[in-house]
Amino acid sequence: MDRSKFLYAPVSVPNWSQIHQEMLAWQKKLGTPREWFFHNVENLGALDEMPTLVKWFEEKNLRMAECVYIIVRPRVITNIHSDLFAPNALALNFPVTGCETVRTHFYEELPEVINRKRRDAKRRMMFQGINLGPSRTKPPEPEPPAKPNPHPDYHIDDVRQIGDTCVNVPTMLNVSVLHSVVNTTNRPRIVFSFRFKEEPWHLIEEVDPTLAIGVQGQSPEASNDQAE
Ligand SMILES: [Fe+2]
Repeated sequence: MDRSKFLYAPVSVPNWSQIHQEMLAWQKKLGTPREWFFHNVENLGALDEMPTLVKWFEEKNLRMAECVYIIVRPRVITNIHSDLFAPNALALNFPVTGCETVRTHFYEELPEVINRKRRDAKRRMMFQGINLGPSRTKPPEPEPPAKPNPHPDYHIDDVRQIGDTCVNVPTMLNVSVLHSVVNTTNRPRIVFSFRFKEEPWHLIEEVDPTLAIGVQGQSPEASNDQAE
């Protein structure tokens, strides 16, 4: 498999209904705080609340890097973005509530947009010149504050859709590919998204022979909807 083209695949998780119950119980405690959209809850005791999941992580040699609580509000389409601050490309998302009909769409940039961005970058270099670093005699300028996502500006006309899925079963996603979540329902859609210290390709390889699900160019019939 060409890993760079991997988009998504359902992952078989034993005791999923038990794990889902543990997630639901914790989700009820966490609620839907107004300011939370993409919130790392690792330090709030994520693993203490989900002992069945922890057991499976240990069996599969998965070392958690982040546990993110993602809320997509009712009737919201998220920006087209990639998770540039994730530890690596793979995220294992677990549906908690409101996930039944909400779809995650994947995109690639149109060639003309890639060319335009390259041209713009070259132009910026021409006008900005080369940064020689801080002067020895002058204190360095303070760094500008980091933006939450440097690519929030993908317009739907800048991209082409290359796949979509419904995270209504545990699903591995390539979050380095541009994506957007479309929630047209009247309920919040909540998932727990786990990211690991090493990319867990071994979980996807277990899905064989449908390993190619979500790979660019596969037939649209191959999706999570078929896997249920
Ligand atoms: Fe994302």
